[in-house]
Amino acid sequence: MKFKKLEQVLDEDPVNGLSVTGYRLIPFEEPKPLKKLPLLKHYFVDSSIQGIIDHNLRWANGQEEKPRFKFAYIMLPTGCNQRCMGCFTGKDKSRLPLELDGPFYSNETIDDITGFLKDHGAESVVYGGGGELFKWKGAFDYIERITDSGLGMVIFTNGSLLSKVDVEWLSQRDISLIISIRDTTEKQHNLATGISGFMDVIQTLEYALQTGMHEQNRLAVEIPVTNNNEKRIFLDFLPAMRYLGVIPFIEEFIQITTSEEEKTVCHDFRQARKFFDTIADVDRQLGYNHEPVFGQRILAQPKCERSLYSFTIYPSGDVGPCPSHFLSYGNFLRMQNFLPSL
Ligand SMILES: C[S@@+](CC[C@H](N)C(=O)[O-])C[C@H]1O[C@@H](n2cnc3c(N)ncnc32)[C@H](O)[C@@H]1O
Repeated sequence: MKFKKLEQVLDEDPVNGLSVTGYRLIPFEEPKPLKKLPLLKHYFVDSSIQGIIDHNLRWANGQEEKPRFKFAYIMLPTGCNQRCMGCFTGKDKSRLPLELDGPFYSNETIDDITGFLKDHGAESVVYGGGGELFKWKGAFDYIERITDSGLGMVIFTNGSLLSKVDVEWLSQRDISLIISIRDTTEKQHNLATGISGFMDVIQTLEYALQTGMHEQNRLAVEIPVTNNNEKRIFLDFLPAMRYLGVIPFIEEFIQITTSEEEKTVCHDFRQARKFFDTIADVDRQLGYNHEPVFGQRILAQPKCERSLYSFTIYPSGDVGPCPSHFLSYGNFLRMQNFLPSL
């Protein structure tokens, strides 16, 4: 087996090909003492975020000179090598959300943005966008420029285009990687992404584990959940990731560009709540005790707090609260002296 770090959580059979498996790792007894829930560096928030929110509420009331941020999403107009079913940026349907259209920022603008962020207490830049960062030939220069400025980075990637040298280079910088899969089996993942990339993604995960990034809470694997893959997620994906020390990033399906047919396999709110209750039950068996927290999307569910400690900027220069729901506060490229005046 060429996947040394992953060998305890991989199986292979002629029907499904390679698959991530974890149900054997769920103990019968609830473990004690409970383990501390790992939070992805630069992205997941703990109770300290309340300090930033309180500061910003005072700023909104004129009692502080400027706001503070934990991070900003910088959305780039990147293309993609995958065509994932229901991709919320429409890549599978050859659609491009208007807000993602536009040029890449110049180096000068990137420096303005990183300068602004550092001046406002931010710790990182989160890559967001319509595609795959590593499809863009400027990706490594961009990452170098941001991390050289002293900010950390959070990078969502489908992992299929990265070599061992690339992963090692990324691991040596202050970067958290979120590698995405669509299902736990080679067959289902390849079907859902439109390319035969599962082996490459698993290989990238193996390289990342070899660097030890997970020991610093800098490695996550993301998987969007549907009625089709939900059992494999709580029986195989979750225990396998906990066993490896990789942060399981299980996400509800965002139904922005999903077709009516695709929606039939997605959870409704009731199913989503039940699913995340099951995830919490399995996690308790694995030694992690947490209550699911709902309300992470600004329009679909109320009480989202992300816009109180971060913001999103788009290729056009539009600034908004969230990478999944477009709403413009204004445009920093069109407003003269926008950055210094804030
Ligand atoms: C749009 S992708 C862009 C970055 C990168 N290409 C990747 O695959 O991670 C960002 C993340 O959103 C997830 N994603 C895409 N469409 C989604 C949807 N409709 N619902 C939930 N997550 C989705 C992907 O699986 C991935 O983890």
